[in-house]
Amino acid sequence: MVKDIKISERMSSLPKNNFSIMAQLKKKLLLEGWNFIDLSAGITDLKPAQHILEKLAAYSLNPELHTYSVKFDIVELYESVRYFFQCEFNVDIKTLGYLTTLGSKEAISHIHSALINENDIVLVPELHYPFYSLSAQYYNAEVYAYDLDEQYHPVLHTIPKHILDRAKVLWINYPHNPTGAIINDEAIRSVVDFCKQYNIFLCADMAYSHIDFVFEKSASILNYYHQYSNMIEMHTLSKNFSLPGWRLAFVLGNPEIIRVVAESKLLFDTGAFMVTQKAAAYAIQNYKNIIPKVRGEYEYRSRYMYKKLSELGYNVSEPKGTYFLWIKVPDGHTGRSYAQYLLETKKILVLDGAMFGPKGKSFVRLALTEPVSVLEEVIHKMGTSTTSHR
Ligand SMILES: Cc1ncc(COP(=O)(O)O)c(C=O)c1O
Repeated sequence: MVKDIKISERMSSLPKNNFSIMAQLKKKLLLEGWNFIDLSAGITDLKPAQHILEKLAAYSLNPELHTYSVKFDIVELYESVRYFFQCEFNVDIKTLGYLTTLGSKEAISHIHSALINENDIVLVPELHYPFYSLSAQYYNAEVYAYDLDEQYHPVLHTIPKHILDRAKVLWINYPHNPTGAIINDEAIRSVVDFCKQYNIFLCADMAYSHIDFVFEKSASILNYYHQYSNMIEMHTLSKNFSLPGWRLAFVLGNPEIIRVVAESKLLFDTGAFMVTQKAAAYAIQNYKNIIPKVRGEYEYRSRYMYKKLSELGYNVSEPKGTYFLWIKVPDGHTGRSYAQYLLETKKILVLDGAMFGPKGKSFVRLALTEPVSVLEEVIHKMGTSTTSHR
């Protein structure tokens, strides 16, 4: 009987999700017994500190915390986010909308759900985390990829007028996945001004906010909230705190839109586990002991890899944040063929830059989510007998 049931057009018409294809490839390689260094997915290898694990364990023993968290946000978490924002961004969040989500990936979807009608346009950077565009298409929006300049900053004045007329949402993400670029406050301000001028809802994905090797943290759009309130900013514990499995993120911004984001979420989910919310409150209160170590480790790895690969003659964008290296592939290769070459001959799995948009087709992305000892091996492998490929 199952054969008569067709899957929904909503799902079948979605463009292919390269990340799930990649996950399948990895599974296949592992089943076939391949031994490879995995620099593909960008899942941090850094482990939580013992005191955080102990807090989590202690909270898990409280039976009261094992029920539905129907109100979504527990007070301690909200208060620790408030403290974090005051100290780090000089923003008082008390008048803003606030919502805890199951990671920022979930938030992207509910933000679109709250805002998008069929045929609205969602503006994304020409190189972007693919779930902005996939999720927009899921809600039947059109996606327009705006240009980035040589620093990978938004170039918005080239967006045609007829696109701006239908544009509803604009995404930015700094420090930037996949290039490792960062942005300064002035550039952020001009994005806010642009969105205000054209009445576009601004969404800032701050997943790597504190993995910034120049300013230590990225500027927050919420500093301009009093000038333009059509904005939401997303933060997650996955990267700065190296806690991706906890599935905890939060969004802040326009209260009316966040109320609808919460309604959309309620259709799918009943709130994050209160044990992780409590432990997250503790982690955020103690961020000064956690974030600098995470940033320090990735900065070290990034600088090491940038130096070594540049010395070997690779064309690497200087990493200024995140834990990604963005490398232009040698002439004669595409990102795809080079990723295949690295896998087959060097047993190193990296991502084809085209997974982040067509402009990435001559690049590969390396996620530096392995310890330095493994990265040394990568350098050794990439430094030998590749002359015909560089
Ligand atoms: C730019 C960016 N945004 C959001 C996410 C999703 O993070 P999470 O759902 O774990 O919060 C990722 C994960 O790789 C990312 O790179």
